Amino acid sequence: MIAEKKKIAALLASPRKPGNGEILVKELCRRLPVPHELDLIRLSGHKIRPCRACYQCLATGVCPLKDDYAEVLDRLARADAVIIVSPCYLMGPSGLLKVFLDRGLQLFSRRRELQGKPAVNLVTAGIAGEAGYTEAALNSMTLIMGMRLVASEVFIGALPGEVLWHRPDEAERVGRIAARIFSGEPRSFSSWCCPLCGSDTMQLLGADRVQCQVCRNFGTIRMENGEPRLHITLKDENIFFTPEQAEHHHQWLMGMKERFLAVRRELGVFLANYADEETDS
Ligand SMILES: Cc1cc2nc3c(=O)[nH]c(=O)nc-3n(C[C@H](O)[C@H](O)[C@H](O)COP(=O)(O)O)c2cc1C
Repeated sequence: MIAEKKKIAALLASPRKPGNGEILVKELCRRLPVPHELDLIRLSGHKIRPCRACYQCLATGVCPLKDDYAEVLDRLARADAVIIVSPCYLMGPSGLLKVFLDRGLQLFSRRRELQGKPAVNLVTAGIAGEAGYTEAALNSMTLIMGMRLVASEVFIGALPGEVLWHRPDEAERVGRIAARIFSGEPRSFSSWCCPLCGSDTMQLLGADRVQCQVCRNFGTIRMENGEPRLHITLKDENIFFTPEQAEHHHQWLMGMKERFLAVRRELGVFLANYADEETDS
């Protein structure tokens, strides 16, 4: 019997063709231990318009903007695993990725299709140690989409190709990620990373108290056996962590329509006070 090919969708947020992110994805697929087909989605080749904040999609699941967003989302939903790849631009993800994510209120109606899907986040950056919050941004995107983070890693290379050029060690690292995607193993986070979402970015709150800057849960950090170890507890009022919390947040957002209708007239009077100071149309 011929094994069914796994569908890998890679969302590529670099305008370079091919760039470092693209060759990482292709190397990863070459090293996948299962038959597969790659669906490479170059965001730069698609028309994705910025969200207009009309909130229509919350109720209908359909965005009134006419562009390629729904097609891209369909391709992600059809995949067995998703790879999100962004270059670091000025310490954060590229604008292409953020514009895509901003359309994500539509995700509430599609979350079930994405829930639990294995996801890998790859960041490319030109300078070691200068990737800023890019990885955290990609990890929060995975969380918002309800997918299961298998790995998130930063790769360094400035010129296109340099990320793997004369770098067999880095190609091996890509191979280790590839081996994990369908292994069913949960991601094993470093002891200083949030055990819930994998972020390595914590705000110190005093004494040993910390707050994860991606999933916003609270915990403690202590030295255990010579290593910093984080203990984080899931708070009830998370808005994206579990399917139930996401649905609760969806309902809350939809309730805002009633609230808006109730205060619309009064708000209009208030906003009119600011109407004549416009300098841009
Ligand atoms: C507008 C711009 C801003 C960048 N900002 C950073 C940065 O803040 N930190 C960094 O390490 N590299 C930065 N880089 C370098 C890219 O992250 C690096 O070249 C990366 O490998 C590009 O990946 P790609 O080839 O997949 O597009 C920047 C590149 C550009 C074009």
